[in-house]
Amino acid sequence: VPAHVPSPTAPLSEIDTPALLLRRPALERNIAKMAGRFHDAPVRLRPHFKSNKCLHIARLQLAAGAVGITCAKLGEAEALIDGGVTDILIANQIVGPIKIARLMDLRRRADVMVAVDDADNVAQLSAAATAAGLELRVLVEVDVGMGRCGVRPGEPALTLARTVAGSPGLHFMGLQTYEGHLQEVTPYEERRRRALEDMQKAVQTRRLIEDAGLPVAIVSGVGTGTHTISGLVEGIDELQVGSYATMDAEYARVGGADFEHALSVLATVVSRPAAGVAIVDVGLKSIAAEFGFPLVRIDGAEYTEFHEEHGTLTLGEAAQDLCAGDKIELIPSHGCTTCNLYDVMHVLDADDRFVELWPIEGRGRAQ
Ligand SMILES: Cc1ncc(COP(=O)(O)O)c(C=O)c1O
Repeated sequence: VPAHVPSPTAPLSEIDTPALLLRRPALERNIAKMAGRFHDAPVRLRPHFKSNKCLHIARLQLAAGAVGITCAKLGEAEALIDGGVTDILIANQIVGPIKIARLMDLRRRADVMVAVDDADNVAQLSAAATAAGLELRVLVEVDVGMGRCGVRPGEPALTLARTVAGSPGLHFMGLQTYEGHLQEVTPYEERRRRALEDMQKAVQTRRLIEDAGLPVAIVSGVGTGTHTISGLVEGIDELQVGSYATMDAEYARVGGADFEHALSVLATVVSRPAAGVAIVDVGLKSIAAEFGFPLVRIDGAEYTEFHEEHGTLTLGEAAQDLCAGDKIELIPSHGCTTCNLYDVMHVLDADDRFVELWPIEGRGRAQ
């Protein structure tokens, strides 16, 4: 709980800063738009929790028809299970005895699925599941070009799929893949060409495994930047889109993600040290920096320098009236890492009035 909790219907000026703001109507429109886009398509939505780590948002996505939730970490899965979510994909490898023991504890409470890309890890998961008397659903991760985790498409994936299918305590479910290297490719046509090419590697691997007699129930992948491309590829079953729900400045910049900005960081102008310069109380510790500067939500002001606890704004003609004490909104360049910096979201209604606080349950749960 923040030190100062605004009273219900308080205007933005009564919210202390830095504060993460979430416009609920925009969030709901984004969720409805993504759900509507695939309502009549064969794919299912399994939105990624790592993007906002907020259970309220996950519940809205499930209510809009998502089959389950994707997450990155055991700690996020724990938060989801504590919040009553039952069908969860941890789209990463769970490696080592400490984590595998935690995974088994979670599997007792919910139907958690994990990704694998290593035969020794498969053997360890199998031994732990068997010892615990559990069955664990497993996806083989295939690297279609991102160069992160995953086995090569084709024969290496088939070999590992056979290993999983032959391992007691494990249930081979299909493939995990993510074309993360393509999410921000511009122009969109180039993104489209490359995504269609790379997702074919996942689809061909699926066919190879099916032809070898192993049923493939799920091929999961796809992000906000490619959902209108890879989401329509036959042979892809589940979309693990994340950022679309709140959006961020980077996705707005690269295009192909027609969602509204529901997320911002409220900042206070703390100093006007020179003409044309304003200093705000939002710096590296309260907004993401890895994709560049945030967008300033007023005319004539640009965020031009990060400091730990401060940000420098360069002011044009239209913003010369900014004074110390004024509050302004910043749209983060990257929503996922910005949400991870806050304990709560300040939820706003259609009139930009404060409604309530939503905890960010997965925040900081990197283990
Ligand atoms: C494995 C995986 N799937 C899905 C996503 C969701 O991507 P986006 O936020 O672009 O929708 C990510 C994001 O990094 C990811 O790492």
